[in-house]
Amino acid sequence: MDIPWWRDAVVYEIYVRSFADASGDGVGDLAGVRERLPYLKELGVDAVWLTPFYPSPMADGGYDVADYRGVDPQFGTPADFDAMVADAHALGLRVLVDVVPNHSSSEHPWFQAALRGEGRDRYVFRDRPNNWQSTFSGPAWTQVDDGSWYLHLFAPEQPDFNWRNPEVREEFLDILRFWLDKGVDGFRIDVAMGLFKAEGLPDVGDQSFTSRSPVWGQPEVHDVYRDWRALLDTYPGDRMAVGEVWTDTLEDLALYVRPDELHQSFNFAWLQAPWSATAFRKVIDDTVATVPFATWVLSNHDVVRHRTRYGTADPGTGMSRAKAALLATLALPGSAYLYQGEELGLPEVENLPPEARQDPVFKRSGGELPGRDGCRVPIPWSARGDSYGFSPEGVKPWLPQPEEFAELSVARQTGDPDSTLEFYRRALACRRELGRTIPYELEWLESSEDVLVFARGPLVCALNCGVGPVPLPPHDGVLLASGPVGDTLPPDTAVWLRREVS
Ligand code: GLC
Repeated sequence: MDIPWWRDAVVYEIYVRSFADASGDGVGDLAGVRERLPYLKELGVDAVWLTPFYPSPMADGGYDVADYRGVDPQFGTPADFDAMVADAHALGLRVLVDVVPNHSSSEHPWFQAALRGEGRDRYVFRDRPNNWQSTFSGPAWTQVDDGSWYLHLFAPEQPDFNWRNPEVREEFLDILRFWLDKGVDGFRIDVAMGLFKAEGLPDVGDQSFTSRSPVWGQPEVHDVYRDWRALLDTYPGDRMAVGEVWTDTLEDLALYVRPDELHQSFNFAWLQAPWSATAFRKVIDDTVATVPFATWVLSNHDVVRHRTRYGTADPGTGMSRAKAALLATLALPGSAYLYQGEELGLPEVENLPPEARQDPVFKRSGGELPGRDGCRVPIPWSARGDSYGFSPEGVKPWLPQPEEFAELSVARQTGDPDSTLEFYRRALACRRELGRTIPYELEWLESSEDVLVFARGPLVCALNCGVGPVPLPPHDGVLLASGPVGDTLPPDTAVWLRREVS
């Protein structure tokens, strides 16, 4: 069997509103993405995933979709999308787009009709709410003029669809066809463990992302993904789908990637693991034992950037660990999902002024939860200017950037061999060179408890999570290191070694 492209792809998440602003309104757009594709090619990724750019009132950064087949004017035009895909393909980059099936925007024509009493069965309306809470704080129900209530597991501007209605099912198959016909290589599925809710909508005690909750992961959802897989399989070129599936166990996650369902699902256990070799080892073992095609994620637009997660007390430590974690991630079997800006070593921006924050999590929790704006601050391309090159000169970006973004900008880091960006470029180039000469299977090598050492054929990866230096494992050459190494591997450092294999 030919190995499909996505099995070991490195996919780069573009959070469109914060990547590059070509139009000059302070918000990133598709023309900005298009201009920066050569940067991504040079970085060495295989594919991009674009977060929603569809018409949206932006109550949740575009995850409130009002028209699933359009392009919001603030992000450009359908022609900009086509031109961006054509350029990406010409550069050899694949393109994944986001599909948001759990809920629409309250501005979607179907919900507007539902408010007028037409086609209500496409959403979840009830005479009385149950005790479910919104993921973004507060009740998951909002009352409408005639006294009935509708369900929204996220913001009130994001009413949940009723997936028991066949019309919803048909509509989404048609949306997938629309984008596949435009040439996209696949989809990232938002809240993929949502969609169905338990019959009768019983009250819950615990609403975490557990498969045993009536709120998430109902068995019916798997039939939907079987339909989607069947549709994807009718298209040439290994079109694929990756699910955003939050579960409490990897066994539950594995249900979504059975051979006739989704190709991949994000492995959030990897980003949830603390800085500990034991914790990392367990996630790796569980992952390879349970899912056929692994993925590895350190950061995305919903979580605190991993540089900050790994080093709250000391930013230097966070940076060293973030680089070391990247080497471990890229050495693991399967595919890696990178988040824009991690190649620059961007930290979480923690001190955004309250009036600048836009995440509904911040607003709905009355400021109690900081929300996710801190990982969504626009990318610094140049070391100077009003937006560090994110927008044309004279334009302020939609979220303020801290001064340290000058030092972290693409311009400042390019060509500096000690920079995080050049380190990412070297790591991605080395991974590409090793390519499929390294087997999928992973083998643990002997190490002390604080150190992770594994091999895949000629590649050995060692990551020191301990507090003191350790001897380098036996090797025939050093390929790449995340920091200075001699005969020993310092703490918070990883190395790729070459070994001769017969
Ligand atoms: C997903 C998205 C997140 C969004 C939520 C609701 O988790 O990644 O950004 O807020 O779904 O659509």
